[in-house]
Amino acid sequence: MRIGVLGTGHLAEFLIRGAEGLGYHFTVSPRSADRAAALAASHGVNVARSNQAVVDGCDLVLVCLPAAEGVDILRGLRFRAGQSVLSAMAGARLAAVAAAVAPAAAACAMMPGLANAHGLGPCLLYPARTEWEGFLAALGPLHVFGDEAEFVTATAFGAMSGAVFFWMDALIGWFAAQGVAPAVARRLVAETLRGNAEVLLREVAGLEDIRRGIATPGGITEALVRVLETRGALEAWGGGMDVVLQRVRG
Ligand SMILES: NC(=O)c1ccc[n+]([C@@H]2O[C@H](COP(=O)([O-])OP(=O)(O)OC[C@H]3O[C@@H](n4cnc5c(N)ncnc54)[C@H](OP(=O)(O)O)[C@@H]3O)[C@@H](O)[C@H]2O)c1
Repeated sequence: MRIGVLGTGHLAEFLIRGAEGLGYHFTVSPRSADRAAALAASHGVNVARSNQAVVDGCDLVLVCLPAAEGVDILRGLRFRAGQSVLSAMAGARLAAVAAAVAPAAAACAMMPGLANAHGLGPCLLYPARTEWEGFLAALGPLHVFGDEAEFVTATAFGAMSGAVFFWMDALIGWFAAQGVAPAVARRLVAETLRGNAEVLLREVAGLEDIRRGIATPGGITEALVRVLETRGALEAWGGGMDVVLQRVRG
Protein backbone atom coordinates (compact mmCIF):
# COMPACT_ATOMS: atom_id res chain seq x y z
CA MET A 1 0.00 0.00 0.00
CA ARG A 2 1.39 3.41 -0.97
CA ILE A 3 0.93 6.45 1.26
CA GLY A 4 1.88 9.97 0.19
CA VAL A 5 3.21 12.20 2.96
CA LEU A 6 3.01 15.99 2.87
CA GLY A 7 5.45 17.54 5.35
CA THR A 8 8.62 15.51 5.83
CA GLY A 9 9.35 16.53 9.42
CA HIS A 10 9.59 14.81 12.77
CA LEU A 11 6.12 13.25 12.80
CA ALA A 12 6.47 11.93 9.26
CA GLU A 13 9.74 10.26 10.23
CA PHE A 14 8.24 8.72 13.41
CA LEU A 15 5.28 7.25 11.50
CA ILE A 16 7.42 5.94 8.64
CA ARG A 17 9.76 4.31 11.17
CA GLY A 18 6.77 2.76 12.99
CA ALA A 19 5.39 1.25 9.79
CA GLU A 20 8.75 -0.31 8.83
CA GLY A 21 8.40 -3.86 7.53
CA LEU A 22 4.58 -3.81 7.49
CA GLY A 23 4.12 -3.53 3.72
CA TYR A 24 3.60 0.23 3.44
CA HIS A 25 5.48 2.26 0.83
CA PHE A 26 5.82 6.01 1.18
CA THR A 27 6.22 8.93 -1.19
CA VAL A 28 7.29 12.06 0.67
CA SER A 29 7.39 15.74 -0.20
CA PRO A 30 10.85 17.11 -1.05
CA ARG A 31 11.00 19.92 1.49
CA SER A 32 13.41 19.21 4.37
CA ALA A 33 15.66 17.68 1.71
CA ASP A 34 18.10 16.24 4.26
CA ARG A 35 15.40 14.37 6.17
CA ALA A 36 13.76 13.18 2.94
CA ALA A 37 17.13 11.94 1.64
CA ALA A 38 17.85 10.21 4.98
CA LEU A 39 14.43 8.50 4.87
CA ALA A 40 15.10 7.42 1.27
CA ALA A 41 18.40 5.86 2.37
CA SER A 42 17.15 4.27 5.60
CA HIS A 43 13.53 3.36 4.78
CA GLY A 44 13.40 3.31 0.98
CA VAL A 45 10.85 6.12 0.65
CA ASN A 46 10.37 7.83 -2.72
CA VAL A 47 11.04 11.55 -2.71
CA ALA A 48 8.57 13.34 -5.01
CA ARG A 49 9.45 16.47 -7.01
CA SER A 50 6.72 18.56 -5.36
CA ASN A 51 3.72 18.44 -3.01
CA GLN A 52 1.47 18.15 -6.07
CA ALA A 53 3.47 15.16 -7.30
CA VAL A 54 2.86 13.45 -3.92
CA VAL A 55 -0.88 14.04 -4.31
CA ASP A 56 -0.94 12.96 -7.97
CA GLY A 57 0.88 9.70 -7.21
CA CYS A 58 -1.03 8.47 -4.13
CA ASP A 59 -4.63 7.59 -3.27
CA LEU A 60 -3.87 7.87 0.45
CA VAL A 61 -2.31 11.17 1.57
CA LEU A 62 -1.08 11.73 5.12
CA VAL A 63 -0.70 15.37 6.13
CA CYS A 64 2.13 16.13 8.57
CA LEU A 65 2.46 19.83 7.66
CA PRO A 66 2.92 22.63 10.20
CA ALA A 67 -0.40 23.14 11.98
CA ALA A 68 -0.45 26.91 11.41
CA GLU A 69 -0.13 26.85 7.59
CA GLY A 70 -1.15 23.29 6.73
CA VAL A 71 -4.73 23.91 5.64
CA ASP A 72 -3.63 26.83 3.41
CA ILE A 73 -0.98 24.60 1.82
CA LEU A 74 -3.65 21.93 1.14
CA ARG A 75 -5.89 24.57 -0.49
CA GLY A 76 -3.14 25.22 -3.03
CA LEU A 77 -3.09 21.55 -4.18
CA ARG A 78 -5.44 19.68 -6.55
CA PHE A 79 -7.01 16.49 -5.13
CA ARG A 80 -9.31 14.06 -6.94
CA ALA A 81 -12.35 11.95 -6.08
CA GLY A 82 -11.39 8.53 -4.73
CA GLN A 83 -8.49 9.86 -2.68
CA SER A 84 -8.47 9.84 1.10
CA VAL A 85 -6.58 12.48 3.08
CA LEU A 86 -5.67 12.06 6.75
CA SER A 87 -4.58 15.15 8.66
CA ALA A 88 -2.35 14.64 11.70
CA MET A 89 -2.09 18.39 12.30
CA ALA A 90 -2.90 19.44 15.86
CA GLY A 91 -5.97 21.66 15.95
CA ALA A 92 -6.93 21.17 12.28
CA ARG A 93 -10.70 20.64 12.13
CA LEU A 94 -12.39 18.18 9.80
CA ALA A 95 -14.57 20.75 8.00
CA ALA A 96 -11.55 22.91 7.08
CA VAL A 97 -9.47 19.94 5.91
CA ALA A 98 -12.41 18.47 3.96
CA ALA A 99 -13.08 21.78 2.18
CA ALA A 100 -9.38 22.13 1.30
CA VAL A 101 -9.03 18.64 -0.21
CA ALA A 102 -12.45 18.24 -1.90
CA PRO A 103 -13.43 16.13 -3.80
CA ALA A 104 -11.12 13.78 -1.84
CA ALA A 105 -12.41 12.30 1.43
CA ALA A 106 -10.94 13.69 4.67
CA ALA A 107 -10.32 12.56 8.22
CA CYS A 108 -8.34 13.80 11.22
CA ALA A 109 -5.99 11.92 13.52
CA MET A 110 -3.83 12.58 16.57
CA MET A 111 -0.99 10.55 18.00
CA PRO A 112 1.95 11.15 20.35
CA GLY A 113 4.58 10.80 17.61
CA LEU A 114 7.77 9.22 18.89
CA ALA A 115 5.92 6.38 20.67
CA ASN A 116 4.42 5.52 17.27
CA ALA A 117 7.90 4.84 15.93
CA HIS A 118 7.86 1.93 18.40
CA GLY A 119 4.26 0.85 17.63
CA LEU A 120 3.18 1.98 21.11
CA GLY A 121 1.47 5.35 20.66
CA PRO A 122 -2.32 5.52 20.86
CA CYS A 123 -3.85 6.89 17.64
CA LEU A 124 -7.13 8.79 17.54
CA LEU A 125 -9.16 8.86 14.31
CA TYR A 126 -12.24 10.92 13.40
CA PRO A 127 -14.42 9.91 11.66
CA ALA A 128 -14.10 6.17 10.96
CA ARG A 129 -12.14 5.61 7.72
CA THR A 130 -11.44 1.95 7.05
CA GLU A 131 -8.68 2.78 4.57
CA TRP A 132 -6.62 4.37 7.40
CA GLU A 133 -7.48 2.06 10.28
CA GLY A 134 -4.95 -0.68 9.50
CA PHE A 135 -2.10 1.83 9.17
CA LEU A 136 -2.93 3.62 12.41
CA ALA A 137 -3.50 0.36 14.30
CA ALA A 138 0.03 -0.68 13.29
CA LEU A 139 1.40 2.40 15.08
CA GLY A 140 -0.31 1.77 18.43
CA PRO A 141 -3.75 1.18 19.96
CA LEU A 142 -6.44 2.78 17.75
CA HIS A 143 -9.41 4.79 19.05
CA VAL A 144 -12.04 5.65 16.43
CA PHE A 145 -14.40 8.52 17.31
CA GLY A 146 -17.85 9.19 15.93
CA ASP A 147 -18.30 12.46 17.79
CA GLU A 148 -16.16 15.43 16.78
CA ALA A 149 -16.34 17.29 20.10
CA GLU A 150 -15.15 14.21 21.99
CA PHE A 151 -12.37 13.63 19.44
CA VAL A 152 -11.13 17.21 19.65
CA THR A 153 -11.08 17.09 23.45
CA ALA A 154 -9.22 13.77 23.40
CA THR A 155 -6.58 15.21 21.02
CA ALA A 156 -5.29 17.30 23.96
CA PHE A 157 -3.52 14.08 25.00
CA GLY A 158 -0.87 14.88 22.38
CA ALA A 159 0.38 17.75 24.54
CA MET A 160 0.06 15.64 27.71
CA SER A 161 2.24 13.00 26.08
CA GLY A 162 4.92 15.53 25.19
CA ALA A 163 4.83 17.19 28.62
CA VAL A 164 5.33 13.83 30.33
CA PHE A 165 8.83 13.72 28.76
CA PHE A 166 9.66 16.97 30.56
CA TRP A 167 8.28 15.53 33.80
CA MET A 168 10.31 12.34 33.35
CA ASP A 169 13.39 14.43 32.61
CA ALA A 170 12.91 16.40 35.85
CA LEU A 171 12.55 13.19 37.89
CA ILE A 172 15.55 11.52 36.26
CA GLY A 173 17.55 14.70 36.91
CA TRP A 174 16.49 14.68 40.57
CA PHE A 175 17.63 11.06 41.10
CA ALA A 176 20.89 11.74 39.26
CA ALA A 177 21.53 14.88 41.34
CA GLN A 178 21.09 12.78 44.50
CA GLY A 179 23.73 10.31 43.31
CA VAL A 180 21.89 7.61 41.33
CA ALA A 181 23.73 6.83 38.08
CA PRO A 182 21.87 8.65 35.26
CA ALA A 183 21.34 5.42 33.27
CA VAL A 184 19.86 3.70 36.34
CA ALA A 185 17.68 6.75 37.10
CA ARG A 186 16.37 6.75 33.52
CA ARG A 187 15.47 3.05 33.67
CA LEU A 188 13.94 3.42 37.13
CA VAL A 189 11.64 6.26 36.08
CA ALA A 190 10.64 4.55 32.82
CA GLU A 191 10.04 1.15 34.43
CA THR A 192 7.99 2.69 37.25
CA LEU A 193 5.74 4.54 34.80
CA ARG A 194 5.43 1.49 32.53
CA GLY A 195 4.46 -0.68 35.52
CA ASN A 196 1.88 1.82 36.76
CA ALA A 197 0.45 2.25 33.25
CA GLU A 198 0.04 -1.52 32.99
CA VAL A 199 -1.81 -1.48 36.33
CA LEU A 200 -4.32 0.99 34.88
CA LEU A 201 -4.80 -1.18 31.81
CA ARG A 202 -5.07 -4.50 33.67
CA GLU A 203 -6.87 -3.79 36.97
CA VAL A 204 -10.59 -3.12 37.09
CA ALA A 205 -10.41 -1.23 40.41
CA GLY A 206 -11.16 2.50 40.29
CA LEU A 207 -8.40 5.06 40.91
CA GLU A 208 -9.78 5.82 44.35
CA ASP A 209 -9.32 2.18 45.43
CA ILE A 210 -5.88 2.00 43.81
CA ARG A 211 -4.79 5.18 45.57
CA ARG A 212 -6.01 3.86 48.93
CA GLY A 213 -4.00 0.69 48.41
CA ILE A 214 -0.71 2.31 47.45
CA ALA A 215 -0.60 5.34 49.79
CA THR A 216 0.03 4.00 53.32
CA PRO A 217 -1.35 6.47 55.91
CA GLY A 218 1.62 8.44 57.23
CA GLY A 219 3.91 6.91 54.58
CA ILE A 220 6.27 8.40 52.01
CA THR A 221 3.74 8.50 49.13
CA GLU A 222 1.34 10.47 51.31
CA ALA A 223 4.17 12.83 52.24
CA LEU A 224 5.06 13.46 48.58
CA VAL A 225 1.44 13.92 47.48
CA ARG A 226 0.87 16.41 50.32
CA VAL A 227 3.78 18.57 49.08
CA LEU A 228 2.56 18.33 45.47
CA GLU A 229 -0.97 19.32 46.48
CA THR A 230 0.22 22.16 48.71
CA ARG A 231 2.23 23.58 45.81
CA GLY A 232 -0.64 23.13 43.32
CA ALA A 233 1.42 20.71 41.20
CA LEU A 234 -1.41 18.24 40.52
CA GLU A 235 -3.99 20.95 39.85
CA ALA A 236 -1.56 22.68 37.49
CA TRP A 237 -1.91 19.75 35.05
CA GLY A 238 -5.62 20.56 34.69
CA GLY A 239 -4.81 24.24 34.15
CA GLY A 240 -2.27 23.39 31.48
CA MET A 241 -4.66 21.00 29.74
CA ASP A 242 -7.32 23.79 29.71
CA VAL A 243 -4.89 25.95 27.70
CA VAL A 244 -4.25 23.08 25.27
CA LEU A 245 -7.99 22.45 24.90
CA GLN A 246 -8.60 26.08 23.97
CA ARG A 247 -5.91 25.76 21.30
CA VAL A 248 -7.21 22.53 19.75
CA ARG A 249 -10.83 23.72 19.83
CA GLY A 250 -9.74 26.82 17.92
N1 LIG B 1 6.08 15.90 16.23
C1 LIG B 1 5.12 15.14 16.77
O1 LIG B 1 5.41 14.22 17.55
C2 LIG B 1 3.66 15.35 16.39
C3 LIG B 1 2.69 14.53 16.98
C4 LIG B 1 1.35 14.69 16.60
C5 LIG B 1 1.00 15.63 15.65
N2 LIG B 1 1.96 16.42 15.11
C6 LIG B 1 1.56 17.37 14.06
O2 LIG B 1 2.34 17.07 12.91
C7 LIG B 1 2.58 18.26 12.17
C8 LIG B 1 4.07 18.33 11.90
O3 LIG B 1 4.76 18.40 13.13
P1 LIG B 1 6.31 18.08 13.21
O4 LIG B 1 6.66 18.06 14.64
O5 LIG B 1 6.64 16.94 12.34
O6 LIG B 1 6.88 19.45 12.58
P2 LIG B 1 8.21 19.63 11.71
O7 LIG B 1 9.24 18.69 12.18
O8 LIG B 1 8.49 21.09 11.70
O9 LIG B 1 7.73 19.15 10.26
C9 LIG B 1 6.95 19.93 9.41
C10 LIG B 1 7.50 19.73 8.04
O10 LIG B 1 6.65 20.37 7.09
C11 LIG B 1 7.52 20.98 6.13
N3 LIG B 1 6.85 22.04 5.39
C12 LIG B 1 6.61 23.31 5.76
N4 LIG B 1 5.96 23.97 4.77
C13 LIG B 1 5.82 23.06 3.76
C14 LIG B 1 5.26 23.14 2.48
N5 LIG B 1 4.70 24.25 2.00
N6 LIG B 1 5.27 22.03 1.71
C15 LIG B 1 5.83 20.87 2.15
N7 LIG B 1 6.39 20.74 3.35
C16 LIG B 1 6.38 21.83 4.16
C17 LIG B 1 8.67 21.50 6.95
O11 LIG B 1 9.77 21.77 6.11
P3 LIG B 1 10.86 22.87 6.54
O12 LIG B 1 11.62 22.25 7.68
O13 LIG B 1 11.65 23.03 5.30
O14 LIG B 1 10.10 24.10 6.95
C18 LIG B 1 8.90 20.31 7.89
O15 LIG B 1 9.70 19.32 7.27
C19 LIG B 1 2.06 19.43 13.01
O16 LIG B 1 0.86 19.87 12.45
C20 LIG B 1 1.84 18.83 14.40
O17 LIG B 1 0.73 19.40 15.05
C21 LIG B 1 3.28 16.30 15.46
